Amino acid sequence: MSQKIYPRSKDRETVYLKNVITDPNIIIGDYTIYNDFAVEPRDFEKNNVLYHYPINRDKLIIGKFCSIACGAKFIFNSANHSLSSLSSYPFPIFFEEWDLDIKDITKAWDNKGDIVIGNDVWIGYEAVILAGVTIGDGAVIGARAVVTKDIPPYTIVGGVPARSIRKRFSEEITDSLLKIKWWDWPKERIREHISDIQSGNIKNMY
Ligand SMILES: CC(C)(COP(=O)(O)OP(=O)(O)OC[C@H]1O[C@@H](n2cnc3c(N)ncnc32)[C@H](O)[C@@H]1OP(=O)(O)O)[C@@H](O)C(=O)NCCC(=O)NCCS
Repeated sequence: MSQKIYPRSKDRETVYLKNVITDPNIIIGDYTIYNDFAVEPRDFEKNNVLYHYPINRDKLIIGKFCSIACGAKFIFNSANHSLSSLSSYPFPIFFEEWDLDIKDITKAWDNKGDIVIGNDVWIGYEAVILAGVTIGDGAVIGARAVVTKDIPPYTIVGGVPARSIRKRFSEEITDSLLKIKWWDWPKERIREHISDIQSGNIKNMY
């Protein structure tokens, strides 16, 4: 994929996310878009990937052809004040005040793991995805959902905490899509099949 930032020549609110990311712990697939009409969309790392400190080395991995709506947020592990401690106060972060060793700073929070988003996932307006969650290919996250658990492929979820609203397709079509993995095709082949993708003509895609 090219280094181009804007998929549409006259639209400065939508960016190819891969081409605006600088953090090596954020990995974005080709053609995944982020739209922001409230603040600068190129500042996704700062405004949308929260509590994501390099010292913790946790990763945000997003697949290809995802659509991420304005204000969606990814809340990382350093936000999780340790609940195994007798206090939720993050003493290790304030190591100077309490004469603690800086190397123990990560003990201030509970680590639940990376956030991994599949391909062709649509994340709605102001949805919140919490640390440790994996979202399967083709899933849809409703506006303002708070995703606390893994979401299976091609499942539409909404609410707080996010629960399944329905499956997008029959099991048969879901299995076919997961086998076909059209998002891994060369660009020319995808271009040839856009009308099949749009119209649901999966038989033409084998
Ligand atoms: C999740 C969504 C895709 C569901 O679409 P849908 O399948 O057409 O759903 P429906 O409107 O038929 O609603 C089905 C049920 O889900 C509920 N629901 C829909 N969206 C919801 C949401 N965001 N949060 C919680 N519940 C939701 C409805 O209330 C309804 O509940 P019921 O069965 O108890 O009556 C859609 O509602 C949504 O949130 N879209 C995101 C839009 C957006 O943020 N766009 C940003 C620009 S890209």
